[in-house]
Amino acid sequence: MTVCRDCCCGNALKHPSLDHDAQLDRLTAALAPAHRVRKSLCLDVCAEANVMVVHPTPTARRGGATPVWFGLVLSPDIEADLVSWVRSGGPGVADLPPMLDLSVIPAPGR
Ligand code: FES
Repeated sequence: MTVCRDCCCGNALKHPSLDHDAQLDRLTAALAPAHRVRKSLCLDVCAEANVMVVHPTPTARRGGATPVWFGLVLSPDIEADLVSWVRSGGPGVADLPPMLDLSVIPAPGR
């Protein structure tokens, strides 16, 4: 999973009600060791901060799965749904839960 952390995502001035470092720590701890969580620079969809991208496994990618982008990931409930979906296999493997589907955003340029 890629977690955007740059000018807007992870910025306490933009979203002061969320402890952004704690969010990143929770995601990293919840997905380790099977899944890697990495920080990225701005992914160019700042209006959707906090942005996260779930990447398909190599096998799923070979089967045609593509990364799924999520925006406004600002609540523990969405985080929990994301973690659960990634643990279940993520793109191309597990169906996206309906509530999580509401947080999907188009990848830039699509
Ligand atoms: S800082 Fe995350 S999209 Fe710009």
